[in-house]
Amino acid sequence: MADKIEHLLEDLETFPPSDDFTSSSPVPADLMARAEEDRLGFWADQARELHWSTPFTEVLDWSDAPFAKWFGDGTLNASYNCVDRHVLAGNGDRVAIYWEGEPGDKRTITYSDLLGEVKRAANLLESLGVAAGDVVAIYMPMIPETVVAMLACARIGAVHSVIFGGFSADSIRSRVEDANAKLVITSDGSIRKGRIFPLKETVDAALEADGHTVEHVLVVRRADNEVSLTPGRDLWWDEEIAQVGDEHVAKPFPAEHPLFILYTSGTTGKPKGLLHTTGGYLTQTSFTHRTIFDLKPEQDVYWCSADVGWVTGHSYFVYGPLANGSTQVMYEGTHDTPDLGRWFDIIQRYGVTIFYTAPTAIRGYMKSGRQIPAKYDLSSIRLLGSVGEPINPEAWAWYREVIGGNRVPVVDTWWQTETGAIMISAIPSQVALKPGAAQVPVPGVVVEVVDDQGERVNPGEMGLLTITEPWPSMARGIYGDRERFIETYWSQFPGRYFAGDGAGVDKDGHLWLLGRVDDVMNVSGHRLSTTEIESALVDHPFVAESAVVGASDETTGQAVVAFVVLKESKKAEIEASDAPQVLRSHVSTKIGAIARPRQVYVVAELPKTRSGKIMRRLLRDVADGKAVGDTTTLTDASVMSAISAGVASGT
Ligand code: WTA
Repeated sequence: MADKIEHLLEDLETFPPSDDFTSSSPVPADLMARAEEDRLGFWADQARELHWSTPFTEVLDWSDAPFAKWFGDGTLNASYNCVDRHVLAGNGDRVAIYWEGEPGDKRTITYSDLLGEVKRAANLLESLGVAAGDVVAIYMPMIPETVVAMLACARIGAVHSVIFGGFSADSIRSRVEDANAKLVITSDGSIRKGRIFPLKETVDAALEADGHTVEHVLVVRRADNEVSLTPGRDLWWDEEIAQVGDEHVAKPFPAEHPLFILYTSGTTGKPKGLLHTTGGYLTQTSFTHRTIFDLKPEQDVYWCSADVGWVTGHSYFVYGPLANGSTQVMYEGTHDTPDLGRWFDIIQRYGVTIFYTAPTAIRGYMKSGRQIPAKYDLSSIRLLGSVGEPINPEAWAWYREVIGGNRVPVVDTWWQTETGAIMISAIPSQVALKPGAAQVPVPGVVVEVVDDQGERVNPGEMGLLTITEPWPSMARGIYGDRERFIETYWSQFPGRYFAGDGAGVDKDGHLWLLGRVDDVMNVSGHRLSTTEIESALVDHPFVAESAVVGASDETTGQAVVAFVVLKESKKAEIEASDAPQVLRSHVSTKIGAIARPRQVYVVAELPKTRSGKIMRRLLRDVADGKAVGDTTTLTDASVMSAISAGVASGT
């Protein structure tokens, strides 16, 4: 029997679109009906909005399920679709990117400029021997060359693997090794919070030991910090690009040609490289981008605040918006440099009309107060979006009122690295919005919330989110591990995709996302694996055993809290140091600063069941300051009392 959530049966306040919004919307009113009447025909129509070099005749081939083929006999080029096509249509002078560096330097890049840069970069990659199917790792800050590098890979059929610029040398190494990357593109440094982070140095550390396949490292100049170049391997991007030609013809690739790999945390210690291909991915990212964001490409200035190192940056900063010919903002730095008004200053100066960010940022601003956004003119905004974690109704209301001037729609969009594009969200011109709910599947997507047995739950009940039909932008697997893809997502409920999220259904049949039901944490909208952090902790000589939980956090949604048992044999060294501090830094060095635990508690023992399984649920209660749940299955219930007492006394 599924758990109940009473308020989902109540009448909740909704926010219907204004007449003005609906009447000026470019989104066809019959999308939903069309998708329901002929799902595959609907997706084929959306795919035909792209430029195909060879039109497809087959829409979906599901014979090798769960490895889908969409538009399989068609050919296209992703880079041509994102750039050349707009220039050829006469929109070369349209601004593609308004870039702003953290120190305040600026670049305005039109579609024609972008095309020139992408062509030269494609020539450069080819001159270095990169060919279709080769993997290129990109470890870069938020600067235009990052987008240029991604599109240049796509143009020549190379597969990019973007690694978030905050990840450690170890994380780069494991990703580069897993995918046999041939080339790494990085920069000397990145500028954040007024400081320089030495990206090239981190890449050097990652590649120090032999046994990798990287032939060259291309280094973009950004922060002007000193770097050392390994002769024969490392090259300056600007020097090399000056020597290649500026003409490059994009060749078409099959729709199922790999476009990129993006690693994300799962329930095991090893990040998974999700593989995305070209035609279906581009179809669904561009369709959802223009529909959910109500896009008017000639008028809108769109800004997605996500870093390209995450899937949101791939789908809603690079591929979706560029395929739609949007004008967008790209900002390098942090929201609080030089002060907390930075984002609003950017919105005001560029006249941003559509803004897409994460609930963590909104809750952070709620905390610092409405007087900060109140100093700026935000009247250009006509639509707001949220992504990455559940948005609580209070944050939704604040976002709409304070940033959206009490007048604009706020869409909550649910999706994952695995889904490639938005799967659940209201279409703001067509659906009355409900604070706190992602609401309805996008047209052409079929979702069902089920109980443990796979039975559909009733309104007011909580269950597990599943997707019952294949969709165009779905991942085509985990790179190099066919079985793991099947086992992770398709075996819990055979024949359906299991997302790992809990969800409820309300009396209108709308969906409420309730967070992860597995060992994946969501900290500031970033996915982290408890197991991966536990492995990093036990890798330290002090630690005998560890358990990590995602505790509730008012601002970041969840926060990493670790419980560790230290080694008797290291007693002297441990006593001479601040062990929790040492371990927090250790996790940061091993994985990256985003994984640094908020707290590390030293405990004598971890709570375990008789079969030896760590009861993380109980530790989560302690970390949340709640009464500890049922301890009857523990081998020794006194372990929990000791932990609770220790945490309460702050030791
Ligand atoms: C969570 C980010 C509630 C969810 C695009 C999912 C959300 C995980 C929402 C994927 C939302 C994302 N409401 N939860 N609107 N959007 N999530 O792969 O738990 O980094 O499984 O993709 O984020 O995170 P990922």
